[in-house]
Amino acid sequence: MKRKRLDEIIRVDHAGEHGAIAIYKGQLTFLNLIGDKKTSAIVSEMAQGEQKHANEFDRLVEERKTRPTALMPLWNIAGYTLGALSVLGGKNSVMACTEAVEDVIDKHYSSQIEELEDSGQEKEILKTIKEFHAEEVEHEKIAKNEISENTPALKAFKKAVEVGCKAAINLSEKI
Ligand SMILES: [Fe+2]
Ligand SMILES: [Fe+2]
Repeated sequence: MKRKRLDEIIRVDHAGEHGAIAIYKGQLTFLNLIGDKKTSAIVSEMAQGEQKHANEFDRLVEERKTRPTALMPLWNIAGYTLGALSVLGGKNSVMACTEAVEDVIDKHYSSQIEELEDSGQEKEILKTIKEFHAEEVEHEKIAKNEISENTPALKAFKKAVEVGCKAAINLSEKI
C-alpha cells in the first residue's frame, strides 16, 4: 500500500471519529437542555465509544505523521449543528441520525478492511479498523432498535444525513 493511500485512510477516519463526537456533543447538549435523560444516556454511552476511536486515530495521526484534514473546523460545526437539529425531531430523529451515520461508516470501514486485507500490509491498523467497525455496527443496531416509527419524514432525514456523510468522507480523504 502506498504511503499516500494510507495517509488518506488515516486522515478520513480521524476526521470521521471526531465528526461523530461533534454530532453526539450537539445531541447531548440539547437533550440535556430539554431534560430527556433516557435518550441522553443511550447517546452518552455511544459517544464514549467514539472518544476511544478518536483517541486512537489521534495517536495514529501523530505516529504516522499524517496531515489531518483541513476541514476539521467545518466538520466540528456541521456535526454539532446536525446533532442539535436532530434533537428538534425528538428521540426518533436523534436515533435516525445515528442509524444513518453508522450505516455509511459501516460500509466505509468495510471497504477499508477489504482494501487493507488485499494489501497484506498494515496489520495493526487493519485490526483497529475491524474492532471499530464492529462497534459502529453495534451503534447502528442500538439506534435502529430505538426508533419507534419510520415515517416518510424520518426516512428523508436519514437519506439527507447519508448524502452529507458520504460527501464529508470524500472530501476528508483528500483535503
Ligand atoms: Fe467511531
Ligand atoms: Fe459509532
